[in-house]
Amino acid sequence: MYPVAAHRGFRGLAAFRRGRAGETAGAVMGEDLGAETGVHGASWGRMHGGYFSDPAVARPLVDAVRAAWDALRPEVVVDLGGGTGFLLSRLREAGLGREAALVNLDCSPAQLDAAAAAGVASVRGSVDGFRREAVVPAGRSALWLMRSVLHYAGEAGLAPLLRHLRAQAKAGERWVHQTACFERPEDADCLNALYRGMRTAKWYPAVADLRERLSAAGWRAVSVLPAPALRLDSGELGLRYGLDEAEIAGIRESIAGAFGGRGEVFRLRPGGFQADLHYRIWICDAVS
Ligand SMILES: C[S@@+](CC[C@H](N)C(=O)[O-])C[C@H]1O[C@@H](n2cnc3c(N)ncnc32)[C@H](O)[C@@H]1O
Repeated sequence: MYPVAAHRGFRGLAAFRRGRAGETAGAVMGEDLGAETGVHGASWGRMHGGYFSDPAVARPLVDAVRAAWDALRPEVVVDLGGGTGFLLSRLREAGLGREAALVNLDCSPAQLDAAAAAGVASVRGSVDGFRREAVVPAGRSALWLMRSVLHYAGEAGLAPLLRHLRAQAKAGERWVHQTACFERPEDADCLNALYRGMRTAKWYPAVADLRERLSAAGWRAVSVLPAPALRLDSGELGLRYGLDEAEIAGIRESIAGAFGGRGEVFRLRPGGFQADLHYRIWICDAVS
């Protein structure tokens, strides 16, 4: 359980000075972030080939958020699980900071320290426990943003999380999220087996499955756009999830045995393996 707290970067959010803020958080979903917090903070941007700090990688999502903002002109943009604030920084550079308040919500203190250093206003809280009032002042409208966070909920936690997010949004508000998911269910099965092997509860849906779960939770997918894939390397995964060489070797053999070692999303490499996380950008509307 994370305490209810407004992070110090939060004071920078002018729109909140007159509003109530930072008064909620909630239980952290699914799994404890555990060993992963070791790669949070200033070094996070270098993980996974710099995927999460690469402006070119972020471009399709930033453009989609900008287009969603232009269509609805909401007063607050909230990045759910926004980490170091990289996406909000990109949006600020694209001029959005002059037109809307930009708020990052994340549960990792190290990520929030990095966000504060980048001048991004943040609230410490969990995406499955926060309340709207903690990030959107009363009477204001919001655009919701998220990249690469839904999988933290695990399979059982995904539907409750989608419902919780829907309950925080007002009907007609938009949620633009870039989520790891796979066109082919067998590729989702492969990545899910890999992550189970790494002792994490993270879980990736197939595209059709995610569409159904979004709809059941009150989110209508208006469009689904391509986004760059993320190349996972077993060395980095070992660092991120606290796995030694023997464990990596065991996972390598077990996934190759079950799914083959030269597949679309999992490939053997000398002494390790590579895997690909596929992403889609989902433009979703909150429906009643
Ligand atoms: C893969 S990183 C992505 C960071 C950021 N969205 C980006 O794309 O640059 C996932 C982020 O989700 C955060 N996170 C994981 N579970 C969370 C939860 N239950 N509530 C809030 N943040 C969470 C982590 O701390 C981390 O910063």
